[in-house]
Amino acid sequence: MNKTYQIQTVRTEKEMADALSVRRAVFIEEQQVPEELEIDEHDAASSGTIHFVAYDGQTPVGASRLRPYAPGVGKIERVAVQKTERGTGLGRLIMQAMEEVAREQNYETLKLNAQTHAQRFYEKLGYEPHGDVFDEAGIEHIAMVKKLK
Ligand code: COA
Repeated sequence: MNKTYQIQTVRTEKEMADALSVRRAVFIEEQQVPEELEIDEHDAASSGTIHFVAYDGQTPVGASRLRPYAPGVGKIERVAVQKTERGTGLGRLIMQAMEEVAREQNYETLKLNAQTHAQRFYEKLGYEPHGDVFDEAGIEHIAMVKKLK
């Protein structure tokens, strides 16, 4: 049976803490990304970043962030689904929620750096790879782009 998730932009300190708890579990604990790389200046309240959090009931199970990158270009980062919820379509729902907000913000293009294991996930959502594979935090990445209009 399909679960119903609630995905929203972060508006309160509690929701921010919930989003960070998912990122912490997925990136810092599971993927061993150093905390000082995972939590950065784009998480500061004044940064203009829009954070997203997904709930299953009261439990935070997904997170991501969208930030201004260049004129007309938004950057999607930190897309994370708790291990127990993967393969349920939640990742796609989070991406769709971000794209809806990106259109409202009048972004023409979305950019992201995909971990290469997730490249197919983003391709299915219309993102195209650009350039060569590179290393970030000890993990292989590839740049990907999607035109929104
Ligand atoms: N490789 C190939 N296809 C994948 C995939 C993968 N790693 N992950 C998802 N897909 C496919 C699914 O099969 C599904 O295809 P379908 O539409 O044909 O059924 C589609 O992509 C949507 O999958 P979904 O269930 O929404 O993905 P998810 O909820 O498992 O979330 C991630 C995907 C990548 C966000 C999740 O695996 C995750 O959080 N991983 C750990 C953190 C991470 O690496 N994030 C990416 C940083 S760039």
